[in-house]
Amino acid sequence: MTPMTQNPPLLLTGGTGTLGRHVLPMLRDAGRTVRVLSRHRRESADDGVEHVTGDLLADTGTAAAVAGVHTVVHLAGSNKGDDEATRNLVRAAVAADVRHLVLISVIGADTVPLGFLRTKLAAERAVTGSGLPWTILRAAQFHDLALTMAKGMTKLPVVPVPTGLRLQPVDVRDVAARITELALGEPAGRVPDLAGPTVYPMADLLRTYLTAHAKRRPLLPCPFPGRTGRAYRTGANLTLEGADTGTRTWEDFLAERVG
Ligand SMILES: NC(=O)c1ccc[n+]([C@@H]2O[C@H](COP(=O)([O-])OP(=O)(O)OC[C@H]3O[C@@H](n4cnc5c(N)ncnc54)[C@H](OP(=O)(O)O)[C@@H]3O)[C@@H](O)[C@H]2O)c1
Repeated sequence: MTPMTQNPPLLLTGGTGTLGRHVLPMLRDAGRTVRVLSRHRRESADDGVEHVTGDLLADTGTAAAVAGVHTVVHLAGSNKGDDEATRNLVRAAVAADVRHLVLISVIGADTVPLGFLRTKLAAERAVTGSGLPWTILRAAQFHDLALTMAKGMTKLPVVPVPTGLRLQPVDVRDVAARITELALGEPAGRVPDLAGPTVYPMADLLRTYLTAHAKRRPLLPCPFPGRTGRAYRTGANLTLEGADTGTRTWEDFLAERVG
């Protein structure tokens, strides 16, 4: 039997993204051959990483991507269409007799009424209803996303800050380590959420960012109306109990970035 047969490639969708870029070397370090699906063509080198081209939303290249794979780690995502993209992937995975599908999702997928989160919940349902053995991890916002938000918001001379909005950002390396562990393990169903070690009111998050960048901006508290505001005020995007927490804080992350 060839080593390839003993150790079939593991399909990593989203392997070129913020999270996937950290997961890929961790899987390689664990000795796994990894097939990375991307919409952009890349040459494969002889380094244990096979690049395949496809678009999950357009459903092109999906069947070829899952062929001969036992484990799919589905991290691909975008602002819209994650439900449809996941349904396409699941259909191909069922046909290819995949033995384990690992999905990353978002804390609050079932409690915060945002269109994006509805697609994440529908993606979860596509997986849980597929008949495939599965593992789902819901994670909080990555520090990288919180940084993008802070950068964007503090471009304004006065920064409106939704009152009652709190975030519990998590370091993408902590999420990558957990996803890798789950991908190498047996199907585990819905595992405890993974959030960062600290809950921050949005204003505190922004103040830390401004201090780290030696910037000054007045913060203007603003109401966050509607059902979404109510959900955030009740902490529906947080996991205060029963969650795993990452090791790195927002302050650690900013110090690294600024340093
Ligand atoms: N960012 C956060 O704070 C956060 C928090 C919790 C959960 N998540 C979830 O974690 C996952 C990864 O997030 P991320 O921040 O790493 O995303 P990202 O940096 O925006 O990367 C998106 C990845 O998805 C791939 N992708 C997008 N549309 C695709 C399509 N139609 N077909 C195939 N591949 C496609 C992209 O590949 P190419 O561009 O190479 O095609 C890229 O690798 C997403 O599912 C996201 O919802 C994110």
